[in-house]
Amino acid sequence: MVVGDFATEVDVLVVGGGPGGYVAAIRAAQLGKKVTLVDKADLGGVCLNRGCIPSKALIHAADEVDKMKNASHMGIEVDGVQVNFTDMMKWKDSVVKKLTGGVGSLLKGNKVETIQGEVYFTGENTVKVATENNSTTYQFEDCIIATGSRPTEIKSVPFDGKKVISSTEALSLEEIPDKLIVVGGGYIGLELGTAYGKLGTDVTILEGTDSLLPGVDPSMVRMVKRKLKKFGVQVVTKAMVQGADTSGDEVKVTAEVKGEEKTYSADKVLVAVGRTPNTDDLGLDQAGIELDEHGFIPVDKQMKTKVGRIYAIGDVAGQPMLAHKASYEGKVAAEAIAGEPSEVDYRAMPYVIFSDPELAYTGLSEKEAKEEGYDPVVSRFSFAANGRALSLDAADGFTQVIADKESKEILGAQIVGPGAATLIAEVVLAIEMGANAEDIALTIHAHPSLPETVMEAAEGVMGNSVHMVNK
Ligand code: NAI
Repeated sequence: MVVGDFATEVDVLVVGGGPGGYVAAIRAAQLGKKVTLVDKADLGGVCLNRGCIPSKALIHAADEVDKMKNASHMGIEVDGVQVNFTDMMKWKDSVVKKLTGGVGSLLKGNKVETIQGEVYFTGENTVKVATENNSTTYQFEDCIIATGSRPTEIKSVPFDGKKVISSTEALSLEEIPDKLIVVGGGYIGLELGTAYGKLGTDVTILEGTDSLLPGVDPSMVRMVKRKLKKFGVQVVTKAMVQGADTSGDEVKVTAEVKGEEKTYSADKVLVAVGRTPNTDDLGLDQAGIELDEHGFIPVDKQMKTKVGRIYAIGDVAGQPMLAHKASYEGKVAAEAIAGEPSEVDYRAMPYVIFSDPELAYTGLSEKEAKEEGYDPVVSRFSFAANGRALSLDAADGFTQVIADKESKEILGAQIVGPGAATLIAEVVLAIEMGANAEDIALTIHAHPSLPETVMEAAEGVMGNSVHMVNK
């Protein structure tokens, strides 16, 4: 279509209303820009509607069930815990609804125009937006692409939405499956596998590499793996899934396990082998944008693509595919558009997995610190020596801080245990502020509390932890 004289002009066009796009739109509006946000589906993107939020609600509900069933050692006898799965799902949906409604109000309150429609680039500064009833051309000064990602399909095990499902369907099942095969022992496989295990499903995770959560510190993964059995979750590693037969009542999955072909059967198969960026149906070539070999949009430190006025943030701009990374990049892009000198710096990125126990890390591992030329000190404090963890009946795990031996600068942390997802924030802030172990050690931490483990680990770096014998 030829762009006529009647293109609607906007300062900033944001494509996608997930945690990248809506945050970018609000920040650009705060900085005085006239912003239009277009999303073809619901505001909030995958994270709010089909990802982070509903999964965390389901994980929490499953935790509660598990706790009730296993409290007799604390003198709590609960007979016949019943799960009304329909009501559990309704509650989860109500959590999602509150948040998506909130996003709509925030956009409105910041005077961001929102349109439900599909965007197709027609040039370097023009797009066509197709809504249910018409198609309009928009001309933008600047554009932020934040179209997110979708579950990756294994060609030989295609999604059918019923027996072979992605995380989307796994978060809105009508019944708790008796048997579930999870292909992929990454973030999603572990989180949802654990939740369904706690709800009574017989879960088998088939992971292609030799470990769950490949790339994550093995001593942390070990703590999580040890507990999985208790929740009815079996893990098979070095299991490359090759095909699925959905013709019978059950699905039969074939996998090459340590060189041998094996078959597993279940009611459903959840395929969670990563996510694919949504960059293929946008007409990006019309805008002059080329993708890298993984389908990501190459960007600089201001999230700018090679087409100067077009920015890309979040899952389309590369790994890690995390909602908070998308929001962070969205703020940087909006500020760059407004002429501010903002740039991304990922050193203090938190990674959080809502497994049992929770697992979180940030900054550098010991190995990475060495590779970067530091002489790292590793100080680990066990939750078994923390009063709050014991009183929560959750003393498995540790808080580990990595610091530079000479300067005591905090370089990273690995936490596995109760509240790890929250505790990591203290170390993220320390790294962001260039704090050293002494700064944390001199900070008064409430007693009894889980953050005391961060203080003790930091004291350990100084060689003066009180509640463990220092090395
Ligand atoms: P993932 O990349 O975390 O894990 C995929 C796993 O599948 C890997 O361990 C890989 O080795 C395995 N795999 C690949 N092909 C296989 C095959 N044919 N057979 C067996 N195993 C195979 O991807 P996942 O779990 O799908 O999650 C996608 C992304 O979503 C994550 O990378 C993460 O960025 C994000 N996410 C973040 C969460 C959080 O922050 N708490 C929670 C859930 C997802």
